Amino acid sequence: MIYSKIAGTGRYLPERILTNAELEKIVETSDEWIRTRTGVERRHVAAEDETTSSLCIEAAKSAMEAADVKSEDIDLIVIGTTTPDLIFPNIATLVQQALDIHGCPAFSIEAACTGFIYALSTVDKFIRAGESQCALVIGAEIITKLVDWNDRSTCVLFGDGAGAVIVKPSAEPGILSTHLGADGKYKELLYYPVGASKDLVAAGTDAVGIIMRGNEVFKVAVKTLGAVAQQALKANNMDKSELDWLIPHQANLRIIQATAKRLKLPLEKVIITVQDHGNTSAASVPMALDVGIRDGRIKRGQLILMEAFGGGFTWGSVLMRY
Ligand code: ACO
Repeated sequence: MIYSKIAGTGRYLPERILTNAELEKIVETSDEWIRTRTGVERRHVAAEDETTSSLCIEAAKSAMEAADVKSEDIDLIVIGTTTPDLIFPNIATLVQQALDIHGCPAFSIEAACTGFIYALSTVDKFIRAGESQCALVIGAEIITKLVDWNDRSTCVLFGDGAGAVIVKPSAEPGILSTHLGADGKYKELLYYPVGASKDLVAAGTDAVGIIMRGNEVFKVAVKTLGAVAQQALKANNMDKSELDWLIPHQANLRIIQATAKRLKLPLEKVIITVQDHGNTSAASVPMALDVGIRDGRIKRGQLILMEAFGGGFTWGSVLMRY
């Protein structure tokens, strides 16, 4: 049996840190409101000259170093993002070129905050089919460029970043299962109103922002993230008590706490980065994985459940032995 196994991880966060205190000067809000409603204390914001691919490249270099992998070893690149540099060519080809990798398949997957889980699940199938020996998988986002900085109900939530993993085939258990899902009936609860084939030119430079019915998103997120976790455990005949770590999408501390409570999982077993990163959409899970590995909490052989939920809605999980 061939498993996909994480050989190394990396992350990159833009230098600029935007604190809640600074946001108080931009919109009518308070550090106290943001902390108690979301858990966010600060977030990183990309510089004008940074692009999502430039974040990806730094995260990829770090993951490649951790996995001791060279550019010529990589035979597949898949990136989950909602904020690619260009409409085309796809962002994975830009990263491919920058890393001096040539010829291998390189594509991106657009599934909002679930982008990395969708990408990793896809790569798992390439690896188990014997079609990849060394894949680069990234979740990355410059979501602050989509944010309407006049809208206090959304601008306080988001941040930028990139998380990368190198995945290789292994005889030792790695990824045990992946489950993906989506339901387009929830579109109106969370979306960005402009795209390549809709109103892009008409929108001009007017403020366009993320449209979100926060309260309703919150409820569906908690319910779905709980169900997704149960689905993964059940499919593997495992009990939640066997989990060493839960790495949920970092949208809101209250969503994370409610999900952990549903699973009766102590918060000590949950990797939480939302206070430092905000909601970085597709980047949140791989960056949290990298944080947990690099600070020594996550150890080889441990059982890890990663899960995400995002616009669409889309959702998914990856249960794996690290
Ligand atoms: N500062 C101060 N007051 C604010 C702010 C702010 N930044 N934003 C909203 N308010 C006000 C509202 O105007 C409202 O005032 P009112 O009662 O006078 O009308 C009040 O605070 C309460 O607003 P609610 O939206 O009910 O606040 P809630 O407790 O639901 O928190 C939040 C809002 C944080 C967005 C929450 O609903 C949430 O986290 N939802 C989940 C959505 C999410 O995480 N989206 C991210 C992207 S999706 C994803 O990643 C899954």
